[in-house]
Amino acid sequence: MSFLKKVVLITGASSGIGAETAIHLAQLGASLSITGRNKHSLDKVAEQCGQPKPFVIIGDLTNENDVKNIIDLTIKHYGKLDVLVNNAGIFELGSIETASLEQYNNIFNVNVRSIFQLTVLAVPHLIKTKGNIVNISSVVGLLPLRNSLIYCMSKAALNHFTRCVALELGLRQVRVNAVNPGLVKTHIFRNCEMNQEQLKIFFEKLKEWHALGRNGDALEIAKTIAFLASDDASFITGVTLSVDGGMHIMSPALPSFV
Ligand SMILES: NC(=O)c1ccc[n+]([C@@H]2O[C@H](COP(=O)([O-])OP(=O)(O)OC[C@H]3O[C@@H](n4cnc5c(N)ncnc54)[C@H](OP(=O)(O)O)[C@@H]3O)[C@@H](O)[C@H]2O)c1
Repeated sequence: MSFLKKVVLITGASSGIGAETAIHLAQLGASLSITGRNKHSLDKVAEQCGQPKPFVIIGDLTNENDVKNIIDLTIKHYGKLDVLVNNAGIFELGSIETASLEQYNNIFNVNVRSIFQLTVLAVPHLIKTKGNIVNISSVVGLLPLRNSLIYCMSKAALNHFTRCVALELGLRQVRVNAVNPGLVKTHIFRNCEMNQEQLKIFFEKLKEWHALGRNGDALEIAKTIAFLASDDASFITGVTLSVDGGMHIMSPALPSFV
């Protein structure tokens, strides 16, 4: 699998799955645009990517001008776009009894609205290159989970966005797919008001939610993103691919039979 001469834009590349994807795609020869808000972390990821050094764009995806800038600067720098990886996302706990409209806006602004805006701006460039999009959703966009209502809704919206856009762009030879990870130890849970000890117990407990009895690793997700973005997946579009150690077959919301 090679990404030589392919221009790939990755959002949320300063941390976790996005950072790992950037490093993996760099090893496969991609020319990268990487973006996030944290310049220090992005520079560190860029260094790990080696040569040619990725093009780093600082921006907040909830700011419409920043989103426009991300596409404009990528096209100005590389002259084209082959792959868009919509990876950036946030997670917060909350149920129908505790979640607020403010939380709804926070989560949907990053997890759905910014992806819509960035994709709209990227599509004319992807049509020119017959490129593709990989959206990073979640297994909880396919399964309901207690106390993560708005996050689950945002990922369910992203799954259907994936299918609808795949249908709309199919005849233009632009593929659109989603990856639905299970639990991966990253910084995404830092807003969950859990201390280090509670987080450790949380990560341990969630191993049981996966058929494979373990959590995922960011590189396992990155490799699937690379596959879907590559020519090896040239006949795959509109899929929501669970990369979740079998969490989607575990029905964690149901009591066990024994
Ligand atoms: N970890 C898991 O268990 C898991 C499971 C299923 C799905 N996912 C999905 O995987 C994706 C990556 O998550 P992760 O686990 O790697 O989390 P992470 O380590 O917290 O990374 C999230 C990334 O999103 C960026 N981001 C967040 N808000 C942003 C904003 N307003 N503007 C620009 N960038 C923003 C962050 O960059 P800055 O801080 O630099 O802005 C960071 O690079 C997310 O879509 C998440 O929902 C994760």
